[in-house]
Amino acid sequence: MSNNPILCEPPVLVGSGILPDLNSTEDDIISRNFQADAVLHYATSRVTPQQTMDEIKVSFDILKSLTPCNFLVFGLGHDSFMWSSINPRGTTLFLEEDPKWVKAILRHLPFLRANNVNYRTKLYEAEKLIEHYYKEPDCWARKSFLRGNHKCMLALDMLTDELYDKEWDVIMIDGPKGYFDKAPGRMSAIYSAAVMARNRKGSGVTNVLLHDVDRDVEKVYAEVFLCRKNLVKGVGRLWHFQIPPASHVNSDFC
Ligand SMILES: C[S@@+](CC[C@H](N)C(=O)[O-])C[C@H]1O[C@@H](n2cnc3c(N)ncnc32)[C@H](O)[C@@H]1O
Repeated sequence: MSNNPILCEPPVLVGSGILPDLNSTEDDIISRNFQADAVLHYATSRVTPQQTMDEIKVSFDILKSLTPCNFLVFGLGHDSFMWSSINPRGTTLFLEEDPKWVKAILRHLPFLRANNVNYRTKLYEAEKLIEHYYKEPDCWARKSFLRGNHKCMLALDMLTDELYDKEWDVIMIDGPKGYFDKAPGRMSAIYSAAVMARNRKGSGVTNVLLHDVDRDVEKVYAEVFLCRKNLVKGVGRLWHFQIPPASHVNSDFC
């Protein structure tokens, strides 16, 4: 519907993985329109995402090289439409703790896919939950399961089947809230992302992006579950991990 040549001319970035080639199928057209809508949305919005340009660029480059892919995002925000539009033909799913916030975002952006999650943790329990992890066999790496794992308080045990059955190529952890004592904290998100990555059956690694690593909980949980040896990049307050599937001999997270 636009007269803008940038939006209407055949794209020049063919092969970038983002823009379609000249033999447009219906899918290509839908993707292109979705991306044009995202451009319009952000060009006319006064609200900017919280991650910096340099941080966003890390995830942007990964998504560009993998799209269409399965992209799971912890935390729904003003950046959500951007993430979805970079992966127009893939699956992008957001997990959000606050049902009111889900409603508020989906009222304006109803095409985003977001699930509400009830976290069983509070930030002030972060230290105690590391002890719980060492003591509770159902938390241990050699078991590595989430669905129905009620005993391990770090496991997200009540997600939808889609969450457990899909292999997530990219997992971004930018939620839930972790900046006050009674907030859920990111402990379960980090633990569950590590379990999902370990259980990958397909080829390749799982890319895990963790934001707010200037905070102690994010740093400690990343060291314990995502592992320094898997850390490939750090930009600003963002760490990028590439986690290989677990081998039979490796029974620890790190
Ligand atoms: C650190 S924020 C993620 C923000 C996102 N990366 C962005 O750039 O907008 C994580 C959580 O904060 C909450 N949140 C973020 N913005 C909010 C707002 N404007 N109002 C209410 N809750 C918000 C949501 O629960 C979200 O999952």
